[in-house]
Amino acid sequence: MSDLDWSSGAAYVDGQYMPLKDAKIPVTEWGYRRSDVTYDVVGVYYGAFFRLDDHVKRFRASMEKLRMKPEESDDQIKEILTEIVTRSGYREAYVAMDCLRSRPPRGVPLHPAYGRSYLICHVLPWVWVFTPEQQERGVHAIIGTPERIAPESFDPTIKNFHWGDLTRGNFEAHEQGAETAILLDRYGHVTEGPGYNVFAVFDGKVVTPRSGALEGITRKSVIELCQMLRLECELRDITRDEFENADEIFCSTTAGGIMPISKLGSRILGNGRPGPISTLLKDTFWEKRKQGWHATPIAYE
Ligand SMILES: Cc1ncc(COP(=O)(O)O)c(C=O)c1O
Repeated sequence: MSDLDWSSGAAYVDGQYMPLKDAKIPVTEWGYRRSDVTYDVVGVYYGAFFRLDDHVKRFRASMEKLRMKPEESDDQIKEILTEIVTRSGYREAYVAMDCLRSRPPRGVPLHPAYGRSYLICHVLPWVWVFTPEQQERGVHAIIGTPERIAPESFDPTIKNFHWGDLTRGNFEAHEQGAETAILLDRYGHVTEGPGYNVFAVFDGKVVTPRSGALEGITRKSVIELCQMLRLECELRDITRDEFENADEIFCSTTAGGIMPISKLGSRILGNGRPGPISTLLKDTFWEKRKQGWHATPIAYE
């Protein structure tokens, strides 16, 4: 271990630890060829995991819904994540856990029931979905034309890589000079964006879609923060028209926390700056993170 260079990141692939650059999967894996994979991402900031148990719990639920059963227990997954972070030495990191299905071996039916599922974890330096500069002035978003994949087709509470719709939306945003695209469902209700949940503020009340999106761990944190700050928070359907006329909009994700949106399509919100409630939630979130809220400190050597 001592001869290896862990500075670019660390990984665990199916039982083995290695520097990130050596982490590879066979090109024939169904996790890759069929997106037969689930994953989760937990953040490390100030040298501590944030809501580690929640992430591992959601990861286990995603795996179970996809009928995946890797060898590692939840406690072992937490040990592996801790091990790769300590090997990397990163105090601020993006820590991913993936479970993918391999191609069934020759001689058995070509059916997922015969494919083994196994774990891949890796750590990268901290990732911001939106740059600190974009967050400071508020992110520029559009409502994309692709419909978000229907929950009847794929359960969005399983964290997944079925990103064709989100990626298409992101290209539309790029062509229109915006940074990201939020998608609606087939009924015209707001769902989520590429890598984040969304919130709108109406007359001081915080609202987020009740369904049709990943049940984000940062979203859960926003709901808790609203309770602490005595802000009303409601989970309900949001129509396009309501969303476009919201007082404030913000998004939430592990890779960035709470991030205000200051432009939606041609509409400029709050004079093109983050709104007061979004800012209060964002500042309180980071203040509490600094104080060790939901933190699991990492014992670096
Ligand atoms: C599609 C999607 N929605 C929402 C989220 C936010 O979830 P969390 O706050 O748990 O990171 C993510 C995170 O990657 C995501 O990919």
